[in-house]
Amino acid sequence: MDYSYEDLRAIAYKVSSEAAALLRDNICDPRMAERIRGETTRADKLSEDYIVEALVREGLNVTIVSEEMGVKGKGDLVALVDPLDGSINYINCIPWASVSIAFGLGPKRDGKGVIVAGSVAPVFNDPPLSFTLGKGCYKGGIKVEASDKEESEIIAVYIDNKDVAQLLSKASFLQEYKLRSLGSASLELSYVGLGLISAFLDLRARLRNIDIAAAYGIVRECGGKVVDGLGRELSIPVMPIKKLGKVIAARSIELLEKILEATS
Ligand code: IPD
Ligand code: CA
Repeated sequence: MDYSYEDLRAIAYKVSSEAAALLRDNICDPRMAERIRGETTRADKLSEDYIVEALVREGLNVTIVSEEMGVKGKGDLVALVDPLDGSINYINCIPWASVSIAFGLGPKRDGKGVIVAGSVAPVFNDPPLSFTLGKGCYKGGIKVEASDKEESEIIAVYIDNKDVAQLLSKASFLQEYKLRSLGSASLELSYVGLGLISAFLDLRARLRNIDIAAAYGIVRECGGKVVDGLGRELSIPVMPIKKLGKVIAARSIELLEKILEATS
């Protein structure tokens, strides 16, 4: 089956918005914090079940790779889903969380393939941020132009507590910035694309493809770079669920290089 990347963006946009609205309707309901299995909360499951049903309703022949349920289906098209990014915020009634859906195509077996479209829908504010490969990034229905992008004094930093002092001693330029770790990695990474956050670093090497596939596409289509700990362009496997190693992103090459020098 042939898919238009633009149609896939529209589907990711619609389904992520609807799941975000469902989560918004249930915010601060204590039942949402119940653990269903392992780390999975009722909120994660509610959103995931909604997304799976909605993708099937769209009539897609899709393999769904999602945080809570793993892999389901056999289609060539792959949906990488984080039904709730920022679960800890959400169950504590802290309004910073998102729903992330990306579509990938291409070889599934060798861990390659291409992420072609996706959407990150904030649960509490703003319209979704989305992208289509080769066509740009969007805030709501509006394409983000280079001139719309802001400059920011914020850098999003995900780092193990024990390494903070060491990082700051090696990277004194970071002290010119406000460092933040807000708790929804895909949303913070997407904001790098918009320029609302200058750079994103996950030095814990804990993020997986499903966590940031959509945000990765957003940053790249907005003109930013997403690299690994050695400065190589990050490649995101479409499946299975896989850790990505260190992730560093920025729109300014100069800032990216400074960060790489300080963290390698
Ligand atoms: C988490 C958030 C958080 C990051 C964790 C992720 P989850 O996602 O993105 O910002 O520090 O590494 O696991 O568990 O809420 O989907
Ligand atoms: Ca999640």
